[in-house]
Amino acid sequence: MKSGLQGGSGTVCWSRNQDQEGRGQRLARGPLVGSRNRQRAEAGNMGPALPWSWCSTDQRPPSTNPTSQMSNLIRPQDLLVTFEPDGRVLIKSASRAAAVKAPPWAVGVLAVCSRPCTRDQVVAAMGPNAGGVYDALADAGLLVAPEVAMDTPVMFHNYAGIEVHRRMLIDEPRMAGYWAGLKATIRPGDVVIDAGSGTGVLATMAALCGAARVYALEQSDFADTIPAVAEASGVGDRVTVVRGDFSKVVLPEKARVLVTETFGAWAYAEDPIPDVARCIANNLTDDGVVVPGRVKLWAAPMPVAPPSLLHPFRRRPEGVNLTPLLADARCRGHITPVAADAVGPASLIADVPFPGTAPWGFSGTLTVDAPCEAVCCWYDLEMAPGVILPTGPADPMTHWKQSVLPFALDPGVYTIELLPAPEDRRSLLVRIGTHEIRLR
Ligand SMILES: C[S@@+](CC[C@H](N)C(=O)[O-])C[C@H]1O[C@@H](n2cnc3c(N)ncnc32)[C@H](O)[C@@H]1O
Repeated sequence: MKSGLQGGSGTVCWSRNQDQEGRGQRLARGPLVGSRNRQRAEAGNMGPALPWSWCSTDQRPPSTNPTSQMSNLIRPQDLLVTFEPDGRVLIKSASRAAAVKAPPWAVGVLAVCSRPCTRDQVVAAMGPNAGGVYDALADAGLLVAPEVAMDTPVMFHNYAGIEVHRRMLIDEPRMAGYWAGLKATIRPGDVVIDAGSGTGVLATMAALCGAARVYALEQSDFADTIPAVAEASGVGDRVTVVRGDFSKVVLPEKARVLVTETFGAWAYAEDPIPDVARCIANNLTDDGVVVPGRVKLWAAPMPVAPPSLLHPFRRRPEGVNLTPLLADARCRGHITPVAADAVGPASLIADVPFPGTAPWGFSGTLTVDAPCEAVCCWYDLEMAPGVILPTGPADPMTHWKQSVLPFALDPGVYTIELLPAPEDRRSLLVRIGTHEIRLR
């Protein structure tokens, strides 16, 4: 459903010595190699033509990156570090599509930069070589200004094309649920915020429900299309677009209603809680109302997993053996329609106000009454008191479908936990015991 950023700038390579031609010479432990091109970096092979090799950190030309030289920089919160067979570490940020290969002690620079640090502070803490690594990490986008440390540009990129909006706009249960919620909530003269406005459909609905002013907050390029939608709907004079991250926007007036559709798999896979909570703190009146205001999370055992869950990763009749992918597939949730008769009795895992506060994590009890091959998850959104938008197997199908998690369980009572994945807050980590599954 979503695509990552492709290519991009910010490639750097660092090694300790220079050869005769002034090009970087690789040491046994290898250089620090960085790239926003995730695919190349993940492959661990940057290819022979590296236009950006250079000398040791102490011989390295002073950084021309003013951000690196003058600022306090911090590591993004969702870095993943893996130890590579060649002795280096691969440092990745999935939410930024950025990665570097580095000597292991680059991890020390990142640890020091858990709080904002200048280059000089890092050099004072770790010695002169750390300065070059600090510059390289900054160039690769893996040390950043504190105010953008929570940013997740890959997600916004995913919302920049029409296809994702088409899927949401043809989802009639979703549209009907939001329309009913807004009609039940908005009073004539209200000021309303649509946090994550996309095409502006909910902002326009809010104006049609009688709002005096609606602020449509949207980060992606779709912000440019919202005025035309509002205008064509006859409410252009009441919808104001603010392009930006709604967690950082401060409006000139407080709103009484905030509507948001920033839900993903099992409601929270896109991690809306911190952003919506901050938008509320900045812009909603004390008696403000959120649409939806409550979320119920459900899970039910599936005696038989859908064939699409693991069956693709098998030895095929043609001779292709895809079983090396099985281990990964067993750790990932699968979004697919599930029939009502494919699930056993459901457990209510959480029934919580939305958005609540960050940092967040939920846990609940899953009862499994017969052996199961997988667990199916879904949620209900309470759009207004008594107005529910359900997304379960027995409900009208939405574009969210259901989420199938490859937990194979014996009968019993289990604690199931969900929280933002530490390596990418726009993914959900779901845990039963020691088995962890990522869902996005
Ligand atoms: C699921 S779409 C919903 C779009 C539209 N409200 C609708 O109902 O069709 C979520 C939208 O919120 C935007 N968004 C998510 N988080 C945001 C943030 N922190 N700041 C600004 N926009 C955000 C995305 O770019 C996307 O367009």
